[in-house]
Amino acid sequence: MKTIGVLTSGGDAPGMNAAVRAVVRSAILKGIKVIGIRRGYNGLINNDTSRMYLRSVSDIIHRGGTILYTARSPEFKTEEGMQKAVNVCHELGIEGIVVIGGDGSYRGALDLSKRGIPCVGLPGTIDNDIACTDYTIGFDTAMNTAMEMVDRLRDTAQSHERCTVVEVMGRRAGFLALHTGIAVGATAILVPEVPFDLEKDVINKMYETLKSGKKHFIIVVAEGVGHVDEMAREIEKITGIESRATVLGHVQRGGSPTVRDRVIASQMGHRAVELLSSGVGNRVVAYKSDKIVDYDINEALAMKKPFEYELYKVAHEISI
Ligand code: ADP
Ligand code: F6P
Repeated sequence: MKTIGVLTSGGDAPGMNAAVRAVVRSAILKGIKVIGIRRGYNGLINNDTSRMYLRSVSDIIHRGGTILYTARSPEFKTEEGMQKAVNVCHELGIEGIVVIGGDGSYRGALDLSKRGIPCVGLPGTIDNDIACTDYTIGFDTAMNTAMEMVDRLRDTAQSHERCTVVEVMGRRAGFLALHTGIAVGATAILVPEVPFDLEKDVINKMYETLKSGKKHFIIVVAEGVGHVDEMAREIEKITGIESRATVLGHVQRGGSPTVRDRVIASQMGHRAVELLSSGVGNRVVAYKSDKIVDYDINEALAMKKPFEYELYKVAHEISI
């Protein structure tokens, strides 16, 4: 393989830059030319690309976001868009692509692989919702950011003896909420994977802890559950405890990546190049039981990610 492309797609995640850096440097070390594709699959369709060199990725390992920009590309899902992308690959001599993104991006990678452009996917999303991997690039940074933000909310909740109801991201998954909730000592954690009843699972829990002297409360709600404003109003109405709702939002997507994100992203980027350079495409790189592994994209997309019910139970038990 003489030339590969690299792109970031879907929601950005801290650590994507570390992955891009690893891809560029590992490829150049193997004598492979690298083309950076900007704005996800849109860059492929519009030939929004440029050659990357060793120094193109200097000073980015500590930066959040993605220097390649990212986008969601509805056009890429159309036959015409896909064909344009394939034509651009042929024009530029791109023989393989590293796609850094979520499982939507993997579907795009699969389509390209089927059209003769082998792709390797790297899991980049703060949601940690990709089934084939225990870990996705960006998850650790997002958890730490969310934890820090909720710690701040705790200060004010403690001073006013209030209940703070905080929504964290995660799309349809509750991993970010669960880990953040444990880390901040939440009284209750609500996730889409576990059905709940406000009265039984939140209000009664608050009453129970009130009896042992608790005076302020943190309720962490995954965005897949939502309605934090309504919940705060309901909690205040029933308990008489002043409640405030906060949606953390996109602050969780930014910031300098943690060590874990930088290291895993670097390992994954390196593995992606090893695969492509040995002629292996149509794979996704994953992190399983502390090891970097890879799977066929089809196989990866068919997997289901079990929720961490054991951890959820622990969180529930110790939040008394
Ligand atoms: P993520 O990669 O974070 O899951 P999206 O689901 O938005 O984010 O997907 C990112 C991009 O991947 C989409 O904008 C589109 O260009 C491409 N994509 C998603 N699903 C498909 C699909 N079924 N076929 C081809 N391309 C897809
Ligand atoms: O997938 C990452 C994520 O931040 C989700 O947690 C969230 O649902 C979504 O992206 C938000 O997307 P956008 O940046 O398009 O608003």
